[in-house]
Amino acid sequence: MMTERTSIKKGIRKSIKRVLSGIQPSGRLHLGNYLGAIRQYVDLQAKGHECFYFIANYHALTSLQDKAALEAATLHVATAYLALGIDPDRSVFFMQSDVPEVTELCWLLNTVCPVSLMQKATSYKDKVAHGEAANMGLFDYPVLQAADIVIYDSNLVPVGQDQKQHIEITRDLAIKFNQAFGRDVLVLPEPYIVPEVAVVPGIDGEKMSKSYDNAIEIFQTPRQTQKRCAQIVTDSTALDAPKDPDKCSVYALLKLLADDVEAEEIAGSYRAGGYGYGHAKARLAELINELFAPARDRYAELEKDPDTVRDILRTGGAKARLVAQETIARARDSAGILTSRSVASG
Ligand code: ADP
Ligand code: TRP
Repeated sequence: MMTERTSIKKGIRKSIKRVLSGIQPSGRLHLGNYLGAIRQYVDLQAKGHECFYFIANYHALTSLQDKAALEAATLHVATAYLALGIDPDRSVFFMQSDVPEVTELCWLLNTVCPVSLMQKATSYKDKVAHGEAANMGLFDYPVLQAADIVIYDSNLVPVGQDQKQHIEITRDLAIKFNQAFGRDVLVLPEPYIVPEVAVVPGIDGEKMSKSYDNAIEIFQTPRQTQKRCAQIVTDSTALDAPKDPDKCSVYALLKLLADDVEAEEIAGSYRAGGYGYGHAKARLAELINELFAPARDRYAELEKDPDTVRDILRTGGAKARLVAQETIARARDSAGILTSRSVASG
């Protein structure tokens, strides 16, 4: 079983972790996905950790039940991950559905999961409150997520704040499984959340999300980004009047993208008056367009070559599956689930 390891490179001892994260292909990627999650994926990959990043298409099916839309979103998210810096030579990059063992592990975990634990899960309640159909897949969503994580013996899970409870549930389920079957079969993961970007606000000031129609998409034209930034909701304080930057969603986003000196200058301009929300929105759009210009170019190139993207996913899926097969064999064996294969091999 893989746990944390250390490597000694050039005399420096460093701890190598198994990192895992996923994003649902339920729509187009946005600034919150990038700042809250994907940027950390790329940083952890650069630090030399063993990274596994995947597209959670079985999770997306709990809310997106439209063949063409799910297929298109899967290819979009795959292309976007690559354009934003996931390097398939350094990270294992794949689709959840290429590792069927994960749904099998979900079943094993279901058998140790108290219904009351799922009833406490806030994302199910939030999604149903936002009009999603209350299907069993949506209810069981955290158990499938737990299987995603523990099947690769993951140590660290980079996510935004909204996923924290799911990582806690994963730990609970791994503990329950290990208690039930008497051994350290499953590794307990930890969340990796960067506080400043844990909850990136959308254009309405609420958490930015694909499903709340409040997102600023990453892959759109500079003009579309300007228009979207112009739609950020602000109060009606007059141009000349002083404004409080800390009560403004435009400033909340600016602070995440501008360097510290510029962020301070803009805060000063807000307080002094004579600086309108329009100025702030225009600067925000510029910063977003600068940040994503290289990724947008790479996306446009990759989009022309979907077969390459599919090949990368296929190779990653095969690598991920090898790891998953070891874990599922260990989990089945510890629970006394015989298969013809295990009986035949003794
Ligand atoms: P969405 O809510 O838009 O459907 P996902 O649930 O697919 O996004 O999230 C993918 C990753 O991006 C997760 O790790 C999630 O925590 C992170 N994320 C999504 N929205 C935000 C946000 N507004 N701020 C910070 N992180 C976010
Ligand atoms: N639930 C996550 C989200 O909505 C997506 C996801 C599925 C995930 N499985 C995961 C994230 C495993 C981290 C680890 O964003």
